[in-house]
Amino acid sequence: MFYITTPIYYINSTPTIGSAYTTILADIVSRFKRMKEDVFFLTGLDENSKKTIRAAEKAGMPIRDYIDFMAIKWKNAWKILKIDYDGFIRTTEERHKKVVQEFFNKIYKNGDIYEGEYEGYYCDECEAFLSEKDLVDGKCPYHHKKPAYIKEKNYFFRLSKYQDRLLDYIEKHPDFIQPVKRRNEVVSFIKQGLKDVSISRPSSGWGIEVPFDKNQTIWVWFDALINYISGSPYWPASVHVIGKDIVKFHCVIWPAMLMSAGYELPKRIFVHGFLTVNGVKISKSLGNAIDPIELVKKYSVDGLRYYLAREIPDGEDGDFSEQRLKERINNELVANFSNLFYRVTSFIEKNFNGKVPEPTEEGEKEKKLKELIEETLNNVEKEMDELRINRAIKKVMELSSEVNKYFQENEPWKDPTNSRTTLYYSVNALKVISQLLYPFVPIIGERALKALNSKVCKIENLKKFSIKPGTEIRAEMLMKKIK
Ligand code: MSP
Repeated sequence: MFYITTPIYYINSTPTIGSAYTTILADIVSRFKRMKEDVFFLTGLDENSKKTIRAAEKAGMPIRDYIDFMAIKWKNAWKILKIDYDGFIRTTEERHKKVVQEFFNKIYKNGDIYEGEYEGYYCDECEAFLSEKDLVDGKCPYHHKKPAYIKEKNYFFRLSKYQDRLLDYIEKHPDFIQPVKRRNEVVSFIKQGLKDVSISRPSSGWGIEVPFDKNQTIWVWFDALINYISGSPYWPASVHVIGKDIVKFHCVIWPAMLMSAGYELPKRIFVHGFLTVNGVKISKSLGNAIDPIELVKKYSVDGLRYYLAREIPDGEDGDFSEQRLKERINNELVANFSNLFYRVTSFIEKNFNGKVPEPTEEGEKEKKLKELIEETLNNVEKEMDELRINRAIKKVMELSSEVNKYFQENEPWKDPTNSRTTLYYSVNALKVISQLLYPFVPIIGERALKALNSKVCKIENLKKFSIKPGTEIRAEMLMKKIK
């Protein structure tokens, strides 16, 4: 079982291109993994933040109505973006609350929770306690706002107790935090010394109560992280996909919480970078948000998914540009793949009555193409195992370029009756490309496979040519150039 998660998103705004990126990335990986094994893909919403109260007030709606209204908006957005999740968790659900309170009680009984007083900064946007060291010019580095200075009674979690165990675990599990750059950052952060952290706040009437103290609400991050357990029938997670802004919560606090409560740790935490505009993180609170649904209207879901996967370097920041989005679609998805697909399938329709021809002889070129297909399959699988979707899709498109070359060089139009081998090989290569593209561009991928009278199969079956001679196929124009 491959169990993959996204962060659960704050419900006070609708998805931006940033949250869409994380979710699309996780969807691409889970669609790919489903070609090999069972997958559980969990996403959801973080509803217990104080931001929810403020947003409901601003919208002039009772809070329960507001969260239900927003949850529908998020689910609709994921439907449009073709996010094929298996589980959806909302932290206001009873099933979640129960697990959180049990978890809290468990670590309280272990002696890892004690009462204390917190004095310091709190960023309402991050929902995080910040130290002087975290601030840049006195402001939160992510939201560019002055955090509140607070002094209040809290329950504390003995994070400091887990410092050595965490370091030891990270050292023994080199794949636990990826990419390596993030792993190194986490290690050096822990080595500077971990302080205990507050895990409750004075009650505001919203959120999950501390089970033995109704005047205190469980800190929203402590509550939210537990969604990975409450939202899934499986544990541990195979991979948590997160953005680089929430590394400390996932790579330090969460593993320590799990150690304290006696759970296994997630197998891997994959950290990606930010989508930026002119180098600045895209976010609602910074006022430079980009609505993914608007982009879909202009460029199609597949176009947007393809662009994000292809353009944003794995694990790094990437600057968003509509111009590049258009270029990637036109030069690659359309000119490289879709046009090839149409050329091959319409040739078969015209010259072979829509039936895949029987190959005559296999020459050097065919042998090479077959080798390239195998090599691509192996490489793409390896890259996808490491969540390097950027490199994976590049390899798929390289195969498509090679098939273009193969088709072009063989000039089947010069002598259609002697082009059987070329067409047979081209069409089988198209099957492989279509299926490898399917996790990235599910609508086009499915349509392509359907036109080939085929469907998504297990990845190991792709090595054998499965579009047999005589198979009836259809000419299909998958995507047109965007003006
Ligand atoms: N609710 C917390 C997460 C709790 S998980 C137990 C939270 N929510 S959030 O709505 O702010 O979403 C944060 C995540 O959205 C980031 O970690 C990242 O995955 C994604 N992104 C939001 N803006 C982003 C960019 N501009 N670029 C890339 N991803 C970004 O934090």
